[in-house]
Amino acid sequence: MTKDTATIRNNATGKESEFSLQHGTVGTPAIDIGSLNKELGVFTFDHGFMSTASCKSAITYIDGENGVLLYRGYPIEQLAKNSTFVEVAYLLMNGELPKAPELASFKSEIRQHSMIHEALRVFFNGFHYDAHPMSMMVGVMGSLSAFYHGELDMNDPEHRRNSAMRMLAKVTTIAAASYRHSVGWPFIYPRLDLGYCENFLNMMFSLPGQNYIDQSNYIDPVAVKALNLLFILHADHEQNASTSTVRLASSTGANPYACVAAGISALWGPAHGGANEAVLSMLAEIGTVDRIPEYIAKAKDKNDPFRLMGFGHRVYKNFDPRATITRDTCYEVLEKFPSEDPLFELALALEEVALKDEYFIEKKLYPNVDFYSGIIYKALKIPEDMFTVMFVIARTAGWVSHWMEMMSEPGQRIGRPRQIYTGYGARDYTEADKR
Ligand code: ACO
Repeated sequence: MTKDTATIRNNATGKESEFSLQHGTVGTPAIDIGSLNKELGVFTFDHGFMSTASCKSAITYIDGENGVLLYRGYPIEQLAKNSTFVEVAYLLMNGELPKAPELASFKSEIRQHSMIHEALRVFFNGFHYDAHPMSMMVGVMGSLSAFYHGELDMNDPEHRRNSAMRMLAKVTTIAAASYRHSVGWPFIYPRLDLGYCENFLNMMFSLPGQNYIDQSNYIDPVAVKALNLLFILHADHEQNASTSTVRLASSTGANPYACVAAGISALWGPAHGGANEAVLSMLAEIGTVDRIPEYIAKAKDKNDPFRLMGFGHRVYKNFDPRATITRDTCYEVLEKFPSEDPLFELALALEEVALKDEYFIEKKLYPNVDFYSGIIYKALKIPEDMFTVMFVIARTAGWVSHWMEMMSEPGQRIGRPRQIYTGYGARDYTEADKR
């Protein structure tokens, strides 16, 4: 047996085989078991993908034990401190941080693509006034495929880049339109003279005849900085549920806008991108500090489905580096935009109790990024049902980067997991089955 292999033995048949180890640049190696079924006549079963690598990727690296998150090698803390979201999106998509001329042309391309087709605006009329903005995000992002399918040659890198740029640029316009449709306000066109985050805030909040940016404190650097920061922190997270969904859908060669719409659907759930909205609902339900012990007990009760939202993470088992950054930003934002709402104090009290509790210590459950991000969004007057939409804006940069990466790899294969079948064995259709 060589050092770079693992031997797997099937005790039922006595057969064993050697499988090679695949090494990344850093991180845990993986056993390449592609031929396992052929060699040993078995599949692997890994419920929830606890130990299974689904692809090779050079975009993002996470070391969950040590709380490390790198985008293209750069630590998240350094990017959060020194970059804007647009620079980070460029980095994720292209592999390197942009030089000044590259950044200028990237920004200009985003501006050019930020408008949506007038016919697409009409799509919003099909949604009921109280439709959740995420349902509109899924529908409208997917329907971009109806506008840009014919001209797309997936084998052409320039076509792929164009599709990616369109999604990155249009996602803020679609997001703001989803919000405005839900409150019955007229849509605001993107402004070509504004930055990415400023433009989004303007499309969200400005009213006809007024220019939101010019007359409100949202141009405040603290708000723009906070938005940039949250977008950076949420921009990518390697093979999470939504990115894996985008990759799986894309493995069939499907239209990229439809694949990203699938990713948006996966992100919506409270175990993933819906967590920050769920954190605020949970804090509102708890209401006051004296009720915290009751809810901690519920979270620990195996028979109670309640979980402490914003706590725990599949990969980070000591701390979520993004949570440390958002916690600091929370203070900064609340100082600038003070609120009567005692949610932040309640969140801090809950955090303190949970961090000292044996159950949470033993299971290594710490606050994740979304424990604080909702509080920041709330202070910035972003409505709660838009929180996951904010996540969509940020994660679009990651999804399109992964899509471009996988589409450029030679020898792509359709993603097709196996199963352990637990239904009936073959049985006959009898007279009794006839109605
Ligand atoms: N509250 C109470 N108990 C919890 C929590 C929680 N938030 N999270 C995990 N546990 C417990 C589980 O009940 C389980 O207990 P057991 O070992 O006695 O069965 C144990 O901790 C391990 O939990 P799993 O669900 O197996 O961990 P998994 O890695 O599958 O789940 C997840 C991770 C989904 C994030 C989970 O911790 C959770 O539901 N957290 C709340 C939702 C949330 O905040 N999601 C946002 C994630 S960050 C993001 O998507 C950007």
